[in-house]
Amino acid sequence: MSHIVIAPSLLAADFGRLREEVAAVEAAGADWLHLDVMDGHFVPNISFGPAVLRSLRAHTKLFFDVHLMIAPADPFLAEFAAAGADQILLHPEAGPHLHRSLQTIRGLGKRAGVVLDPATPPEAVAWVLDLVDTILVMTVNPGFGGQAFLPSQLPKIAALRRMIAAAGRPIALAVDGGIAPGTAGQAAGAGADTLIAGSAVFGTPDYAHAIAALRAEAAAASRPAPAFDPSRAGGSGD
Ligand code: DX5
Ligand code: ZN
Repeated sequence: MSHIVIAPSLLAADFGRLREEVAAVEAAGADWLHLDVMDGHFVPNISFGPAVLRSLRAHTKLFFDVHLMIAPADPFLAEFAAAGADQILLHPEAGPHLHRSLQTIRGLGKRAGVVLDPATPPEAVAWVLDLVDTILVMTVNPGFGGQAFLPSQLPKIAALRRMIAAAGRPIALAVDGGIAPGTAGQAAGAGADTLIAGSAVFGTPDYAHAIAALRAEAAAASRPAPAFDPSRAGGSGD
């Protein structure tokens, strides 16, 4: 686990200058662009929808990581895929059949992800690991940028890292909410390899410096994935 993915969250950008803001984080070394879609119903805030993705898609090559905070989500999956999403992330609470929603996203040819709210246990993804490309741990309650990181989620990140190691296929482990210098290292130390950051990038004057600082802190804190050792299988772990 050496490569750290940094995904600036557009929610903290200047909405009057979205195209320039996206170009700026792309030039500053962002790996993904995280797009928070909110409906004022599933979460108590409204952001933007597929028309904004479509408009930005024409101006950037960045990987579009689309975090849906809408309910229901199923009727809109095809539209977000067509608008330019590369990955679509859903909350299990946003619909009745998570497995079916993930099948739909993969059927659209996109990467699929599951987002776990602070109160949602890691077991919520245990039986869909074959369909999931990213697991995202919310380290704040969804809906707003600029909230304080919840350290209570660190053991959950560690539990998911172990679950992913056992799954035997590549799954990104992302964190979203309150990621900044200090918390980036805590999250990576627990096992996260993908950092979503809104205010800690767009709220600073130098995006390249902010991205590099988060990446360096996370890389220094992340532990190499343990090699599989059959003699320890079933043991008490670390
Ligand atoms: C919150 C969103 C986050 C948000 C993070 O619901 O999912 O992506 O933009 O903002 P910061 O990094 O400022 O906590
Ligand atoms: Zn998000």
